[in-house]
Amino acid sequence: MDWPNGVDGLCYGGDYNPEQWPESVWDNDVALMREAGVNLVTIGVFSWAALEPREGEYDFGWLDRIMDRLHDGGIAVDLATPTASPPPWFTLAHPDALGERPDGTRQIHGSRDTYDVHAPAYREASLRIAGALAERYAAHPALAMWHVHNEYGTTSHSVHAERAFRAWLQGKYETLDALNRAWWGAFWSQRYSDWDQIMAPRATQYLTNPAQELDFKRFTSDALLDHYRAQRNLLHRAGPDIPITTNFVFGPWVPVDQWRWAGEVDLVAFDSYPGAADRTAEQHSALHADLARSWAGGDPWLLMEQSAGTVHTPDGSIPKGPGRMARHSMIHISRGSKGAMFFQWRSGRGGAEQWHSALVPHAGEHTRTFREVVDLGQALPALAETADEPVEADTAILWSPESWWATGGHASLPAPFDYFENVAQIHRVLRDRGVVADFASPEGDLSKYATVIAPSTYVLSSAASENLRWFTAGGGRLVASYLTGAVDEHCQVWLGGFLGGLTDLFGVRVLEHLPQPDGEVRALWNFGNAERFCELLEMRGAQCVTQYAGGELTEDRPAVTVNPFGKGEAWYVSCKLVDEAWDRLFEALELNGPGSAGVDVVDRGRWRYIINHTDTETRIGRTIVPAGGWAVDRRPE
Ligand code: GAL
Repeated sequence: MDWPNGVDGLCYGGDYNPEQWPESVWDNDVALMREAGVNLVTIGVFSWAALEPREGEYDFGWLDRIMDRLHDGGIAVDLATPTASPPPWFTLAHPDALGERPDGTRQIHGSRDTYDVHAPAYREASLRIAGALAERYAAHPALAMWHVHNEYGTTSHSVHAERAFRAWLQGKYETLDALNRAWWGAFWSQRYSDWDQIMAPRATQYLTNPAQELDFKRFTSDALLDHYRAQRNLLHRAGPDIPITTNFVFGPWVPVDQWRWAGEVDLVAFDSYPGAADRTAEQHSALHADLARSWAGGDPWLLMEQSAGTVHTPDGSIPKGPGRMARHSMIHISRGSKGAMFFQWRSGRGGAEQWHSALVPHAGEHTRTFREVVDLGQALPALAETADEPVEADTAILWSPESWWATGGHASLPAPFDYFENVAQIHRVLRDRGVVADFASPEGDLSKYATVIAPSTYVLSSAASENLRWFTAGGGRLVASYLTGAVDEHCQVWLGGFLGGLTDLFGVRVLEHLPQPDGEVRALWNFGNAERFCELLEMRGAQCVTQYAGGELTEDRPAVTVNPFGKGEAWYVSCKLVDEAWDRLFEALELNGPGSAGVDVVDRGRWRYIINHTDTETRIGRTIVPAGGWAVDRRPE
């Protein structure tokens, strides 16, 4: 892990877009930043047209001036390459380098992220502008870190994508026979007899091939990574001591496998935007933070963006009342972020995000928002020491990007199923019990965990299956829920009882999937209810923890089981439990922590962070935390 050069302690600041404002505003910006304790700003993220107004013609004057001014003000710069938004001259000159949707619609400028990462002209232009920036600024004293691109995640289904996809598939499968087997090509006459027949998944008459879709996501993740790496290598050559990152974003549309990417960045950086109109924004922020820390392998990471106030999106907005911005920041810092960064410094007057909140709102600095920004900025330096210490967790939740990809959109599934919701539920119930859990890759190292929970991990590769076997045999406690290991890495069903082939480990076989209509619940004896989905189990040596109390086919049949295996044990939950039922199970498993619903208590080494999201004062140990407040104290011995 590397840290932005010259930034001591926690990072505080955000995206700064000076090119949107007359230079007369800049001095005021720097003065306000100093007042607020801002020590790092990200500039240049969408500045390509300002930096290269015509192909090969650069205008660095404004960037020189603002870099110098920031440096004079003691503010470090996280300088972005602007490749997430090519200028209009580029898109008109290279129409083949624009992204294409599955239905063949070619996008055009007027928004952002309009490029085809597979197109040679875009690759070339990206490297040219990144190279020009590297040459000019690698030695600038304000430069603390490089920020490559912005939120990689754009998919294209163009001819360039197709060509690259075929090459990727050839590398992976070597022969068409192997590909046809992996994609179950005998179905619906999808057997390929020439590599050139293979398409990036296009708009089709009916359902598409799940194995092809999953490979296309993996391919896109690799192709985006390749684009990142090319820029990174170039920036690194120009200034080997400057750390390099890109900001990860999280959503079902993002074909980026952060487990694979995290090793390629010097510092994991993450943008956290809890869902629009989301009343559980705190829960989602905590989940994002735990994911980012886990991608970083437990090292500190950086919250690169969050919103200071209302997030304005097409489908709703989240207001942040008094103290909420600070509490969200503390959620991230307590869970491993070495700082709190925002989108954006100053709210814009125009453009698509003109109603997005900022550290300096439209109404200016004499506002509640800016006062809270200053208060937080003044409090952070005292926490620098606490944030150098690790967050230790002995429980991990499996996070499988492939399960998310394979179950999204129009996926072929046994019943409508929301993978993320299942993962979020486990995280939520554990958090409400005060447990701070890590996330882990199904194929990653699980040895440091006592308990691993696999919430409906739909795709379980052979390697992941072996990993879980090894973990449990070695003394781990595995808890898996319905649909875990339904399919393998090629989206092919695991025969003989599903469960990723681990029927001996769980001591059960899954015989049938039983989707339930919305609103219908199935009771479990002394345990609470299940909803939406359950499975019919056959016992193969496991003990029954509880049974279904009714339901066609399920009455008195096992619902939750446990099986000793090697030195460990494997629990299986054959249905979608409601929160209260998971809570009961975690109670039985003695998964407890010092926090509770509404009060985060997170230990980092010798320090304890307490964040009180409730409207009443709370006392944890000897620390009293006011309603809506937070505190950091020595951890009790
Ligand atoms: C992020 C993006 C920013 C801004 C922000 C708005 O995803 O990186 O540029 O658009 O969302 O919430």
